[in-house]
Amino acid sequence: MRQARVFLDRNFTIGRIDPRLFGAFIEHLGRGVYSGIYEPGHPTADEKGFRRDVLDLVRELGVTIVKYPGGNFVSTYNWEDGVGPVEERPRRLSYVWASLEPNTFGTNEFIAWCRLAGVEPMLVVNLATRGPQDAANLVEYCNVPGGTTLSDLRRAHGFDKPHGVKFWCLGGEMDGVWHAGATTADEYGRIAAQAGKIMRWVDDSIELAVSGSSGPYIPTLGSWDETVLHHALDHVEWIALHTYLNNWKDDPPALLAAADLIDAFIEGVIAVADAVAAKRRSSKRIMVSFNEWNVWYRTRRPYEHLRMPGWPVAPPLLEEVYSVEDALMVGGVLISFLNHADRVRSACLAELVNVIAPISTETGGPAWRQTIFYPFAQVSRLARGDVLRVRVECESYAAACYNPYRRETFDQLPSVAYLKASAVANEGGGLTLLALNRDLDQEMTVLVSARGFGRLAVAEATVLTDSDLKAANTKAALMRVKPARLSGVAVGAGTVRMELPPASWSVVHLRVAA
Ligand code: AHR
Repeated sequence: MRQARVFLDRNFTIGRIDPRLFGAFIEHLGRGVYSGIYEPGHPTADEKGFRRDVLDLVRELGVTIVKYPGGNFVSTYNWEDGVGPVEERPRRLSYVWASLEPNTFGTNEFIAWCRLAGVEPMLVVNLATRGPQDAANLVEYCNVPGGTTLSDLRRAHGFDKPHGVKFWCLGGEMDGVWHAGATTADEYGRIAAQAGKIMRWVDDSIELAVSGSSGPYIPTLGSWDETVLHHALDHVEWIALHTYLNNWKDDPPALLAAADLIDAFIEGVIAVADAVAAKRRSSKRIMVSFNEWNVWYRTRRPYEHLRMPGWPVAPPLLEEVYSVEDALMVGGVLISFLNHADRVRSACLAELVNVIAPISTETGGPAWRQTIFYPFAQVSRLARGDVLRVRVECESYAAACYNPYRRETFDQLPSVAYLKASAVANEGGGLTLLALNRDLDQEMTVLVSARGFGRLAVAEATVLTDSDLKAANTKAALMRVKPARLSGVAVGAGTVRMELPPASWSVVHLRVAA
């Protein structure tokens, strides 16, 4: 039995949780849109073709903001193709995903879907094969009330009121050699600054995210962010980061350790952003939008190997089936984000439906929750309020970090605490504890000293674990994996004691005692 201590105090906060931390991503990729969120003719589809079964799961997941339309896709996308009468929209080759894009779903359908799902839209503009003027045109189309050619075009397309999109991303992964827009930091930074400037001239209420590093393993990590911010600091509020974690070597301790890599990545990029500001004698603090994150390796291939014969519409691509250990890792990353709540104010799990996603569907059939659905839904529902500083005392281990492409070790984490934890002081006096026991073999007793709270009582205590860490939910076994009640939680005066099974993710929600 392993022992761990956690110390926290209601007065020592990191920051208030921004609801945008619980975002996701919908890309025109595989069956993400077509037969994901949108499937006219499906038994649950509404009159617009939106799957109601998927909408219900999206609401249950607790998603707050959704990035659209890519990803790689956006880097060759013409937004004009996706608006106006559907029968007049062009059918285009979507190069990177080797698919045929019918454009029957576009910006206006996305906004309509967001309103139904109760989520905020986050739009990405194409700064790869298109440029600042096209980006400003899209802001005009979406956000100007009327009286200009493009805003009146939107109205003619049936959307009288402006969409009022607040969050805009200036391209994506422009540092990635696999992207259509891969370029130098100087070139991208210059274009991003120009685009940001004129987009804001169109609508000065928008928020802008510049593309930061696409992972901690990227050779230009840090220098990319520094150069890009050198150009764009005055024009953006956010820097967008991406990372996909992997278990190529079937090394679960390393998979569970990987959230610590995210901590280091976030802290490194924040240090660079603050250094750029300091050099400019600017007090500006750039926030992190962790715009793409997840586990992704089983279906990860060099893009040319993803090609299917011909140019199919919505081929089944990147349909990763997630296991229990993947869900534990997702819980760990959510802890990493919460523990940086002062600077990480937005994040998008990539993606939302079918494509490396928490929700799976069968075309014409049911929709179901993947294992990674649960930690996300729990944290979105219960982790609301102020994140507290936690001091964790427990033993640690060393783990390798594997390159997402080459199945090689690219770094080491020398000291990974067996317990990864976060604590949230909820509005109204409650406390939510999130705990990942990364010991695969031993149970862990955790004794929490919680100062500054009144008398607390357990409102909800759940655990996600399984004797088979490879267990997954599939169409044949929709609920094979789900959280169970965590027994043995004992609450005393200023203390909470938890017994965590090996390799487990636990959520303990405490309310003010009557
Ligand atoms: O989410 C899948 C792909 O991963 C996205 O298109 C791209 O941005 C990233 O490389």
